This record gives sequence, C-alpha cells and structure tokens, in this order.
Amino acid sequence: MKVLILGSGGREHAIAWKISQSPLLTSLFVAPGNAGTAQLGTNVELSVTDFPAIRDFVLGNGIDMVIVGPEVPLVAGIYDYFTADPKLKKIPLIGPSKLGASLEGSKKFANEFMVRHEIPTARYINVTLNTYQEGVEYLKTLEPPYVLKADGLAAGKGVLILDSLKEAEKELKEMLEGKFGEAGNNVVIEEFLPGIEVSIFVLTDGVSYLIFPEAKDYKRIGEGDTGLNTGGMGAISPVPFADKIFLRKVEEKIVKPTVEGLNKENIDYKGFIYIGLMNVLGNPYVVEYNVRMGDPEGEVVLPRISSDLLDLFVAVSRKKLKKKTLETDTRTVSTVMLVSDGYPGAYEKGKEISGLDDPGKSVIFHAGTKLTDGRVVTNGGRVLSVTSFGDDMTEALARTYVTADRIQFEGKYYRRDIGFDL
Ligand code: AMP
Ligand code: GLY
Repeated sequence: MKVLILGSGGREHAIAWKISQSPLLTSLFVAPGNAGTAQLGTNVELSVTDFPAIRDFVLGNGIDMVIVGPEVPLVAGIYDYFTADPKLKKIPLIGPSKLGASLEGSKKFANEFMVRHEIPTARYINVTLNTYQEGVEYLKTLEPPYVLKADGLAAGKGVLILDSLKEAEKELKEMLEGKFGEAGNNVVIEEFLPGIEVSIFVLTDGVSYLIFPEAKDYKRIGEGDTGLNTGGMGAISPVPFADKIFLRKVEEKIVKPTVEGLNKENIDYKGFIYIGLMNVLGNPYVVEYNVRMGDPEGEVVLPRISSDLLDLFVAVSRKKLKKKTLETDTRTVSTVMLVSDGYPGAYEKGKEISGLDDPGKSVIFHAGTKLTDGRVVTNGGRVLSVTSFGDDMTEALARTYVTADRIQFEGKYYRRDIGFDL
C-alpha cells in the first residue's frame, strides 16, 4: 500500500515508524513531515489544510490510504471533502467526518453529546455575549476553582481554570469579547472536577472499537506541573492507577456509550478518539474529547502496540474492526520532550542538533526538526520526543534521560520530573 500521513510532529513520526513495520506498506509519504519522517519515507511540501493540493497529490501518486495526524484538517472537514469527491471517495481516509470532529472542535457539541448519551462529565452551561449575566449567576452557584472553556479550537489555550469569582467573571467577559477570536463566541462554564487525569485512546470504525493503552501526559512547562500550558512535555504508559476495575468502568460508562452514540446519530467516524478523563474517587469523568491520537501520548501508546497498525487501519476503513483484536506490550514506555528555550512562548529555530546517530536504548521521534544542507536543525518549540521501554517506569525513564542528556542543541530544555506523581 502507498500511504500518505498528514502532519509534522512527534505523533506523525511515531505513526510513520509504526506502520513502517507493516508488511502491507510499500511506500510512505508524509506531508509536510520532519527530518525524522524523511528517514522512513518521502516528505512532501503540502499544507495539511490545502485540500485541493492534497487531492492532486493523492490522485497523482496512486495513494491507497491517507492517515490524518492533527485535528485542524479534521475539524475543517477533510473527511467530507474526500467523500464528496467522486475520485477521492474510493481512497480511505483515517479520521472522523467534520461532524464527528466537532467532539474536539466544539466544547458545546461535546458536552451536549455527552448529556444525550448519559456519559459522565462535569455539569456545565453554555453562554454567549447575550447571556453573559446568566453565566455570572451560574458561576456564583459553583465552588472555586472555576473552569471556562472557549467553544472552538484555540491551539490548547482555550481552557482557563481560575481561583477567584472576580477573575472568572472578568475572563468570561474577555473571552466572549474575542480574547480567543471566534473560538470564544460561545463559552462553556464547567464545574471543576477534582482528581488525577489519564487519557485513553480508542480506535473505531464507527461501530466497533479497540481500546489502546492509556497514557498520562504532562502539559505544564515547569517541573512539579507549574507554569504555562504546552502541547505536552512528556508521557507515560501504562498508568498505574488505571487498574482493571477503573478501565472496566471507562469502557462501560464512557467508551461504549460514545461509540454507540456516534452510531445512533449516524456520525461517520473512522479513526482515533482520545478521551481525557478525570479519575474522581475511582470513577471516570470526561474532561475532553480529541479526535486524533495525542502528542506526545502517541509516542508512548503506539510503541506499546504489537499488532500491525496499518492492518487495523485497513479494517477501520472497511468497517471490519470487529474481526480484529489488539496485542499490546506490557512493558512501560516513557517519553520526554526536548523543547526550544522560550517555548511555549517565542523561541529561535535553526539550531543544529547533534547526538542523534546513537539513540542508545531509546527511539527518538522528531517533532519540530528539519533537514537543512544535510544537517538536522530545530524547527519548532517541541523538537524531539525521546521514547524508551523499561520493565518499569523507573527503568524506562532512566533510559530516556540518558539519551536526552546526550542530544545537544542550543537552548535545549526538558522536564526532569516526568512521572513524578505516579
Ligand atoms: P481541555 O482542553 O478540555 O482538555 O482542558 C485542558 C485541561 O484543563 C484538561 O486536561 C484538564 O487538566 C483541565 N480541565 C478541563 N476541564 C476540567 C474540569 N471540568 N475540571 C477540572 N479540570 C479540568
Ligand atoms: N498532549 C495533548 C494532546 O495531544 O492534545
């Protein structure tokens, strides 16, 4: 099979690495890709949201499957673009329809979906500029901290958790007045769920599903979970507190009703569902849906899959996932992100990276890198994701940190405390 992966991060490198192990793969293209994906296939200069250019490439190169990494093209409707086109509709695309992608693209849609299907989540209301006053009254009925979510995609910045009522009222107003652009035209005000977070990953063809290993990611830039939110600074899988009893509850109360809900509502969904959960006294509550694999969660979850991932994607595209089982590796996998100094704020690019030729006991997934005159240089905030297996978390992390120390580039920063709370 000729496969095109859309995206350029560590997640896409991990998908490329995993499907490169499949005997079904004959050639691999990644658009736009990075210096890591260039070692596994051919990078193609295409924007993930330029659907006509993607169409030309897919048809011109006889691509047999498209795998969509990030959420932006999904929320923009790439699946629908393919199914509406007489030529493209024959080519399977892994990712949900535009309506399915609303589970991530609209917090309001996601919350209403959960209410319709009795999926446990926080109590909430949705407010607009016209109903600001109702929002303020609702805030007064809640205990701090207060959770405000911009309805639309806001590059991971649209959720605010605030300690004082005054601050919450002020931020609510600013969000409704355009602080996050159109994403904040609707704001969801939610009850705060106290607990510890874990994410689970479901691969579905819209009817059947497989539950992939769970993971925990570390979103804050600073050690001890302090400072600004990032795309993710590291991840661990499995997660010790997500035991059999908890995961059974997750399947019964959340995964089943989610997939059944999509099916009942005739929402076309062939891809990953990433469910962010809060464990509140042993019971799972949904804090977010994403409509893709996580990043850096993909860099720990996919290495734990022993099954042929491309074969699973083929089954998804044919709605035959029911016939498949998932084999997983029971070892622990850790990943740590090496980022550019300044991230998640402003940072410099183009710094030469050394130490990549000897990954030791790790697998190095590239995130923000590119090849310039044969040299690998930094090209983003999150630069490399260093992944290692171990018999336990301590061993997996020790291996990752040995490799992380060996890699050098100007301004390299990473968290040394991944897994500290487990
Ligand atoms: P989201 O973009 O919806 O995932 O929110 C970002 C982060 O905010 C989540 O990963 C949680 O850590 C936190 N969060 C979101 N909703 C809630 C909630 N209702 N209660 C507590 N924490 C929350
Ligand atoms: N690491 C968080 C995400 O992929 O959304």
